[in-house]
Amino acid sequence: MQLPDLKEARKRTNNKVDYIYENKKVEKVLSGKKYFLKTYGCQMNVHDSEEIAGRLERLGLTKTDNMEDSDVVILNTCAIRENAHDKMFGFLGRCKHLKETKKDLIIGICGCMAQEASVCEEIIKKHPFVNIVFGTHNINELEELLLKNDHKLDINVYSIEGNVYENIPYSRDSKKTAWVNIQYGCDKFCTYCIVPYTRGKQRSRKSQDIINEVKELVANGYLEVTLLGQNVNAYGKDLEDELSFPELLQSVSDTGIKRIFFVTSHPWDFTDELIDVIKNNDNIMPYVHLPLQSGNDHILKLMGRRYTKEEYLELVKKIKANIPNVCLTTDIIVGFPGETESEFADTLEVVEEVKYDSAFTFIYSPRVGTPAALMKDNVTLKEKEDRLQRLNTIVNKYALINNQKYQDKVVEVLVLGESEKDHDKVYGYTNTMKLVNVNAPKDVIGKIINVKITDCKSFSLDGVIIDK
Ligand code: SAH
Ligand code: SF4
Ligand code: F3S
Repeated sequence: MQLPDLKEARKRTNNKVDYIYENKKVEKVLSGKKYFLKTYGCQMNVHDSEEIAGRLERLGLTKTDNMEDSDVVILNTCAIRENAHDKMFGFLGRCKHLKETKKDLIIGICGCMAQEASVCEEIIKKHPFVNIVFGTHNINELEELLLKNDHKLDINVYSIEGNVYENIPYSRDSKKTAWVNIQYGCDKFCTYCIVPYTRGKQRSRKSQDIINEVKELVANGYLEVTLLGQNVNAYGKDLEDELSFPELLQSVSDTGIKRIFFVTSHPWDFTDELIDVIKNNDNIMPYVHLPLQSGNDHILKLMGRRYTKEEYLELVKKIKANIPNVCLTTDIIVGFPGETESEFADTLEVVEEVKYDSAFTFIYSPRVGTPAALMKDNVTLKEKEDRLQRLNTIVNKYALINNQKYQDKVVEVLVLGESEKDHDKVYGYTNTMKLVNVNAPKDVIGKIINVKITDCKSFSLDGVIIDK
């Protein structure tokens, strides 16, 4: 049993990154068994779950959406905010209940929360019916951990990161749009954020491996990729003689894939060269997710974000001037320790000026082990909730105004499936990542079609298929 040690991760031992080209022979020894996989968190976790699914399916397991029906339950956790903790332990309550009637059920916990020693200790003390705990650095060991489990708790979480695995057997959720990791971890250490501890230091994949993966996706009929990383535009900075992010993006564009998105960009690493590459290639989508976090210089400094309000606004101006009809989205935290009303007003001012298409907004949540958790916080929860509500009102106002610009326009939509609310309709995304529900026959699923927008709401558009 091995417990993670966040302090060790924090020391950043400059351990060397090994690139491991996996070549495992796996037999379908668990054929007939079913797995249930629940995922919390960001796209990174969603994509990790595609790896977990791929590894389980290689062993012969098949997926079920009904937990009661499963032989293996895996919970892929997120640690970004405190409520993640309650979600995970709430879910474990359900698992315990199920295990009382199903003695052979294997329960696995992984993801960012598993990287925290305190969480592992809590599992040992209060939830010993869990079978396997593994971390974000050793998903590749899942098959072995599962096969060797003797119905006792087995914790295997490493805090020394370093390896980049290739030839990962993903079982992708979609046949048309794919996540492609270009880097793992994060080196920015924003003072509120747990990610650099749970995911480790930045490790870029080799550009050739990324390009080969995209080429293979194209050959298999994929129309869209989203390049993934906590700081995509810092890609390659941890390697010698590697492409920069704009160069990588150009190479991915040259594969001929129809649509390319990338998340998340850090304003600090957003260069003019990157703007040029987006502008000059039709298959790089005019969509930029650019987390602001706060619009106040003092708070930004305390957050360790490395830019000022003015620098951020300059960058937005450049992006808007060069990329026509660009869709700009963001992340914002309210109620950072000590944030005053006038500091919060600066955030509102930036939102009024940028007029984002949408924003993920959060109340600051202290994460043990991060520097911000030690900062003095005299802002009441009520005040924070009030700020969040005021912020959301403005964010939603601009979301609607921006969406209304689409009225009666014809846009290209990659159709991904049947609409959840209305089974007579299909849903998909524009090249600006707007969700559209479309009146169209089901056989357009998986295709890029022309859609005329007939109605615009704050969070989605409605449209009808047309021939152009
Ligand atoms: N790497 C990305 C996103 C990381 S997590 C980036 O740098 O933007 C996604 C979002 O969660 C962050 O952008 C931030 O807005 C929010 N977040 C992170 N830590 C948080 C915390 N402790 N409390 C509240 N929100 C947080
Ligand atoms: Fe967290 Fe900052 Fe890294 Fe984003 S850039 S993952 S907010 S430390
Ligand atoms: Fe959560 Fe880990 Fe992503 S903490 S937001 S799942 S990197």
